[in-house]
Amino acid sequence: MPRHLIYAANWKLHHGPAAARRYAEKFQELVGPRPGRELWFFPPAVSIAATANAFRGRGDVRIGAQNVSAEPKGAFTGELSIAMIEEVGATAALVGHSERRHVFGETDAETGRKVAALARAGLTPVLCVGEQLTEREAGRTDEVVLRQLAAGLDGLAAEELHRLVIAYEPVWAIGTGRNATPGDAAAVHRVIRRELEIRGARERIPILYGGSVNAGNALALLAEEELDGVLVGGASLDPEVWAAIVGFG
Ligand code: 13P
Repeated sequence: MPRHLIYAANWKLHHGPAAARRYAEKFQELVGPRPGRELWFFPPAVSIAATANAFRGRGDVRIGAQNVSAEPKGAFTGELSIAMIEEVGATAALVGHSERRHVFGETDAETGRKVAALARAGLTPVLCVGEQLTEREAGRTDEVVLRQLAAGLDGLAAEELHRLVIAYEPVWAIGTGRNATPGDAAAVHRVIRRELEIRGARERIPILYGGSVNAGNALALLAEEELDGVLVGGASLDPEVWAAIVGFG
């Protein structure tokens, strides 16, 4: 079966609406649609509308939010609902990114509520999992990833699993210049895939790798059949660098 790859760009706290528009224009001069390749962008929430508008008509592009509330409305200062991000053009959202978990204290239980709410609303939850360095060094990688997976999938029925995307992002590899080796990443992807099958997934759930992916290592990482794509921070911020990376596969 020909491979289907997702190249996902997480802009984190970069690119307001004007910068996002400029980025999208430049990127589209360089990159056209290609069979078997999807391009997903996760801009800051205020730039979702600008990014979605700039990529309008590109069936190979999807826009997502970096975070979302599981609550539909109410007294939740600073939060955004699923309906709100959908209204401005998002069809997906990251859930439990390591910076949400480790900088902002998001809990396993919260990730479960967000995944379920997104899936029920018809958006794609991109559940992020990954161990910290001390956990890897203690040989606890599989245990941590499986715990995060179990919590994130807690509210989902087996027949809803096909709505998911998983991103394996080892915390020690994010923004550090130190990526997992292709073999190490693939090994964790296999653990995740087996667990999804045990939970009743009948289709292949895309599993992306993230953590210091760049123009020098993307090809070697994606050579692993276990990887269905990459989730990239720093190397996705410049449209020319990102265009080069998505052009490799
Ligand atoms: P870097 O690519 O900057 O390491 O970030 C990875 C990441 O967190 C993507 O979500």
